Amino acid sequence: MPSYSSIALGLAAALATPASAFWRMSCPGRIITERADPVVSPGVVSGHVHTISGGNGFGFTMDYAQARASQCSSCPIKEDLSNYWTPKLYYHAQNGSFIDVPQAGDGAGVYGGMTVYYQQRPGPDNDKLHAYPENFRMVAGNPFKRNFTGDFAAQAVSFACLDYNGPAKAETHGFPNYNCPNGLRAQIYFPSCWNGKDLGDTGDHASHMSYPKDTHYDNGRCPDTHPKHMISIFYEVIYQTNLFANEWYGSSQPFVFAMGDSTGYGFHGDFVNGWDIKTLQAATDDCTANSGSTTDCSHFSFFTDKECQSCIVPPSIDERVTGVLDALPGCNPVTNGPEMAVPVAAANCAVKSTIGQAANYYTDMTTSKGWAYLGCGTDNIASRTFSAKSENNRNMTVANCIDYCSAAGYSHAGMEYSSECYCSNTLATNRAPVAGILGNCFMKCSGDSTEYCGGGSTLSMYRKCSGGSCTNAQYGVVGNSTTSSSKRHLDSHRHHHAAHPS
Ligand SMILES: *[C@@H]1O[C@H](CO)[C@@H](O)[C@H](O)[C@H]1NC(C)=O
Ligand SMILES: *[C@@H]1O[C@H](CO)[C@@H](O)[C@H](O)[C@H]1NC(C)=O
Ligand SMILES: *[C@@H]1O[C@H](CO)[C@@H](O)[C@H](O)[C@H]1NC(C)=O
Ligand SMILES: *[C@@H]1O[C@H](CO)[C@@H](O)[C@H](O)[C@H]1NC(C)=O
Repeated sequence: MPSYSSIALGLAAALATPASAFWRMSCPGRIITERADPVVSPGVVSGHVHTISGGNGFGFTMDYAQARASQCSSCPIKEDLSNYWTPKLYYHAQNGSFIDVPQAGDGAGVYGGMTVYYQQRPGPDNDKLHAYPENFRMVAGNPFKRNFTGDFAAQAVSFACLDYNGPAKAETHGFPNYNCPNGLRAQIYFPSCWNGKDLGDTGDHASHMSYPKDTHYDNGRCPDTHPKHMISIFYEVIYQTNLFANEWYGSSQPFVFAMGDSTGYGFHGDFVNGWDIKTLQAATDDCTANSGSTTDCSHFSFFTDKECQSCIVPPSIDERVTGVLDALPGCNPVTNGPEMAVPVAAANCAVKSTIGQAANYYTDMTTSKGWAYLGCGTDNIASRTFSAKSENNRNMTVANCIDYCSAAGYSHAGMEYSSECYCSNTLATNRAPVAGILGNCFMKCSGDSTEYCGGGSTLSMYRKCSGGSCTNAQYGVVGNSTTSSSKRHLDSHRHHHAAHPS
């Protein structure tokens, strides 16, 4: 018969959160790659390029309400409309050019996301863990660091050199100086102790948070200055550096982060809370399965991979950030440390980039043909959305498809996969563009590479105007738009939204 004290111990152990509890959220898409950072540089062009995941409420300035107003997210948990971002990585060629390094899953420009881990790490006293409050934001890491300082903040940045067939290599805190056969995984662990009052919207956006005072950067006791123990977050981004395996030269590794960091010590992550707070608290309390699987958490519902991948925010800065570049956007010089890098003053950058109007991905046919863009809808090869008449030819353009459908007496025309054209008089609601969602209609028309003709199982949809105003949809919303209907020149975004196979 067990003694009273051993029963009590057993109970305490059963109530304690297991140290391994977590859920792992894999984001199969991203919303934008741009010089945007509403935490550090609200309202202005950021100093360097970020790859941003999460809700499409994202903007150059944003608050909790805006995040919560997202209609979709590139991350799957519907109750989480937060934004997560990290710097873009570039290959620095011997001739001085910079070429963007795709992120894993990034077959062709639109895809490629990140993974966010939520971990219950209560420390040795098994602290109660809290959800992030409304309007909370934070930054981990420091873009200007160029050496390893050994403290918890420095330990929280690491790189795993992926080699699925070879022996595992030790993780490093800077870029490894050898090729990684399956890519380079950058990792950053956020501080988990909050001062309980500041939201991170002012100051350095970091000192309202602290790493634990002892034990370990990812699991310890919170300092008295930052007593409130929060759920922990941890980002992983896989950069496909292996695609450049045969392009190394000289004696050092050839990759630099967007802020000009050739050391890796400047890797950083930003977070803006967009969670339904009650759900995050419930999941923090209850979702402690050590499977890490989000589907084991009964508090979550999910967007499909396809929904995540069509959740995209159009760029508003007319500047190329992918493909082969002459210089890093923002004029960031490459710095090797060990001393800290100095931010580039805007006055010292000849390239003046401004926040402009969001890019459109349609051709304005309202005046020339009396047809308006409806948005990016979906198709299904087994049961076509527009099934009345179709055509597939190499000279496909928006005008050719509209003419083809119009001549046959149809009111709806849809272009798909560059060269296909479908006509109909009806549009089923479940295939229609979704209000507020840009969608994945980024394939160039086979007959005109300045125009967009749908995607894999997605249709660029146009409809004949009848009565009332003839207005193109913005973000797939049909109605009065505040932006000009003239089509902005989109060549600069060619690499950003490259075509992908269906
Ligand atoms: C520099 O070299 C890269 C390949 O390493 C190439 O793609 C790029 O076009 C070159 N840039 C210039 C300006 O020639
Ligand atoms: C290393 O970086 C820290 C800041 O992160 C800086 O204070 C220190 O001076 C740097 N060390 C050297 C040798 O430059
Ligand atoms: C497009 O190509 C088809 C053949 O594939 C041809 O019949 C048609 O006339 C062409 N249309 C235009 C507008 O050039
Ligand atoms: C569009 O604007 C017109 C005139 O400003 C207005 O009468 C109409 O109600 C608006 N339609 C929508 C859908 O907002």
